[in-house]
Amino acid sequence: MNDSERTFSPGLKGVVAGETSLAMIDGEGGRLQYRGYPIGELVAQGTYGQVAELLWSGEWKADAHLACAPLPEPVTEVLRRLPPTASPMDALRTAVSAWGAITGCLWPPTVQQARELTAFAPSALAAFARLRDGHEPIDPDPSLPLAEGFLYQLRGERPDPAAARALDAYFIVGAEHGFNASTFTARVIISTHSDAASAVAGAIGALKGPWHGGAPAEVVDQLHEMGSTDQAEAWIRGTLERGERLMGFGHRVYRAYDPRAAALRSVAENQADVAGWLDKAVAVEEIALRVLAEFKPDYPIKTNVEYYAAAVLQGVGLSPSLFPATFALARHAGWTAHCLEQAQANVLIRPDVRYVGPAERHLPA
Ligand code: ACO
Repeated sequence: MNDSERTFSPGLKGVVAGETSLAMIDGEGGRLQYRGYPIGELVAQGTYGQVAELLWSGEWKADAHLACAPLPEPVTEVLRRLPPTASPMDALRTAVSAWGAITGCLWPPTVQQARELTAFAPSALAAFARLRDGHEPIDPDPSLPLAEGFLYQLRGERPDPAAARALDAYFIVGAEHGFNASTFTARVIISTHSDAASAVAGAIGALKGPWHGGAPAEVVDQLHEMGSTDQAEAWIRGTLERGERLMGFGHRVYRAYDPRAAALRSVAENQADVAGWLDKAVAVEEIALRVLAEFKPDYPIKTNVEYYAAAVLQGVGLSPSLFPATFALARHAGWTAHCLEQAQANVLIRPDVRYVGPAERHLPA
């Protein structure tokens, strides 16, 4: 078969590149389940530790507890040497890479490695955030669940229970989502018999882009830039007319409302600190959906998870500079679960590419 006869789908759109038993995503119906459990139920009744164990083992373990882990000293040293201006995503990626080198993380990925990576990452991000602000890192409190422990290590005091619960819900919602760009990156890396730390470091690199994990901070910027709600429609129309994108809208898989956005909107509605911002976000969302439908009548572009993630993360009091890296912390459970799943029935991921360069030619004699 020659190249022109083969199926080519730019961006792998619509291509089924693997099988998974982790997340069921119904893009038309707007449903998401982790190992069969609806996301809304997991957010309402579960903790991130339980959800992570569910993803890794396939079983619901009611007594699962996942706390932040202490940093190996050399990782803290590496973080100390980064400039305070470094992006938190770069710092987290560097810390994961250093962790892999120090612990000698090797193929095949194990549940223990998955647990250790997921428990280490919040401590690394909190340490970097403190160091860049001129403060010493704080040791983790093993009695605290992961999201609460992350806030504790950032601030040196226990967060109020509502903030801890809101961040835990955000972590659950961000834990896993099929073959998104960063997870696919992790699976490609692990498929070469590389190690879980390399896979997660690569995934963090993929998540860094604003079209994937960088959106919530840009949602905050866009809502600020457009001014009052009265000015929103003109601002949105101007943005779309210039061919730019509205952050927090659109998704490769969902043609319906992203169920994660709905779950996080409910969480944000219970966060007093973000009430004013949320009122504006809800009003702007309605306008944006109407204008997007007008601009792209044949391609439904709905609210995605990042729109209300921006509300929840602000309500918890996180700086927008930490939003993408906080998303990365949550996604550690999914990335590592995919490493385990890929390794169980591994096939090297290596698609073909169509050659469109010059025909054979020769250097001057
Ligand atoms: N604003 C304006 N136009 C959009 C948007 C948007 N948010 N999303 C898609 N479009 C338009 C594109 O401009 C394109 O138009 P064209 O055909 O005239 O060129 C068309 O819709 C299709 O765009 P694609 O990028 O091919 O479609 P896809 O569905 O793969 O896009 C993506 C998904 C990249 C997330 C896109 O919707 C986007 O850039 N959204 C904004 C960034 C964002 O919110 N990212 C977070 C996603 S959620 C997550 O990663 C966890």
